[in-house]
This record gives sequence, C-alpha cells and structure tokens, in this order.
Amino acid sequence: MFVSTIPTTRSGLVVWFTGLSGAGKTTLARALATLLQEAGYPVEQLDGDVVREHLSKGLGFSREDRDTNIRRIGFVANLLAKHGVIVLVSAISPYRETRAEVLAAAPRKLEVFVEAPLDVLIQRDVKGLYAKALRGEIAQFTGISDPYEPPLHPDVHLRTDLMSLPECLDHLLAALERLDIVV
Ligand code: PPS
Ligand code: ADP
Ligand code: MG
Repeated sequence: MFVSTIPTTRSGLVVWFTGLSGAGKTTLARALATLLQEAGYPVEQLDGDVVREHLSKGLGFSREDRDTNIRRIGFVANLLAKHGVIVLVSAISPYRETRAEVLAAAPRKLEVFVEAPLDVLIQRDVKGLYAKALRGEIAQFTGISDPYEPPLHPDVHLRTDLMSLPECLDHLLAALERLDIVV
C-alpha cells in the first residue's frame, strides 16, 4: 500500500490589492513578496500589467474585458492558494461584484484597498498615463473616464499619500498575523 510521507500543507492565501493606477498596488505587492520570500513562504505575484502580456494578452479595458481579466487572475490565484501558496494579486479590479466573485472562491483572502486621492495620482503619474488620459489620448482610463468602485469593507485600507511604504507593510504584516500567518 502506498503511504504518503508528504506533509499536508496549510491552505494558502490570496492577498488582493485593488486601487487606481499609481496608488501603489505593484510597489506594495513586490515589497510584501520579498519579505515573505525571505521568511521562507511560497509566494507568487499576479500583476495586471504582467498578466496582460501573457494570460490576458489582447484584452482591453471595457467592462467585459476587465472582468475576463479579473476572472482569469482569480482562477489562477485560487488554484495556487489551494496548494499552500501566498498569492499577491495587484490589479485595478474596478468592479466590486467581480472582486467579490473571485475572492469568494479563495480558501483564505485579504482584500487590500490601496488608495490615494486623484490629484496625488495625477502628480505621481508613474507611467505618464494620467497625462495622456487627461489629454483624451487613452480611452476608458480608470478614475478619469472609467469607473472605480472602492471596496466597502476592505480587510486592509492603505492611504499611500499619508503612510510610508514601511508603514503600509506593517499594516499588511499585522493583517497576516491576525490570519495566523506569522512572518
Ligand atoms: S483591470 O481593470 O484590473 O483589468 O486592470 P489591470 O489588469 O490591473 O491593468 C491595469 C494596467 O494597465 C495600464 N492601463 C490602464 N489602466 C487603467 N485604465 C486604462 N484605460 C489603462 N490602459 C492601460 C496601467 O499600466 C495599469 O497598471 P497600474 O499598475 O494600475 O498602473
Ligand atoms: P500601481 O501598481 O497601483 O499602479 P505603483 O506601485 O506602480 O502603483 O506606483 C506607486 C507609486 O507611488 C510609486 O512611485 C511608489 O514609490 C509611490 N508610493 C509612495 N508612497 C507609497 C506607499 N506608501 N506605498 C506604495 N507606493 C508608494
Ligand atoms: Mg501596477
């Protein structure tokens, strides 16, 4: 008889960073991934910009395409999380209902609302996209000419215009501790 010696892994976790472009989703997910990896946790990142080069290549920014993108990301995130991986998703994911749908399937989840006021984001303009959107050169740009529905009850709410990156990370680590994921 085959007896497995592989220990049962704890179910993983999906940490879902949502927020406008430039709010800090990618920066925070990267920094948290580094901390968790250094502590020996299995971690994967799914970033909207990266996923759109591969899994979601060819999708645009209509509601239908954004929902398809989020459902694909959610599908992969939940598969990985079921096998014990801590999955860090950073995608605008503007629609409340679609976020709720994909997160409902996660074994464990943290919804993180990454927020800064629009004038700060326009000033940051990390990729020059706001300037283009304001000139009308990018259609359906979230926050300018396309909707964003903020979470009503996020597990973690980070104001990146008021809190430094280390302060934000402290809040995230505290939330992980509350979930019994000790870092
Ligand atoms: S979504 O809504 O969740 O499907 O978007 P996501 O997959 O996260 O992709 C967002 C990134 O695409 C770039 N980009 C745009 N964002 C918003 N609206 C429009 N029209 C748009 N066009 C291009 C931008 O780099 C986004 O990344 P972040 O990291 O948010 O800036
Ligand atoms: P997003 O992925 O949401 O579009 P990015 O992570 O690409 O956002 O950009 C966020 C920008 O804001 C970066 O230039 C980052 O250095 C800056 N920033 C300032 N304060 C913070 C903070 N507390 N957390 C995350 N990013 C911050
Ligand atoms: Mg990003």
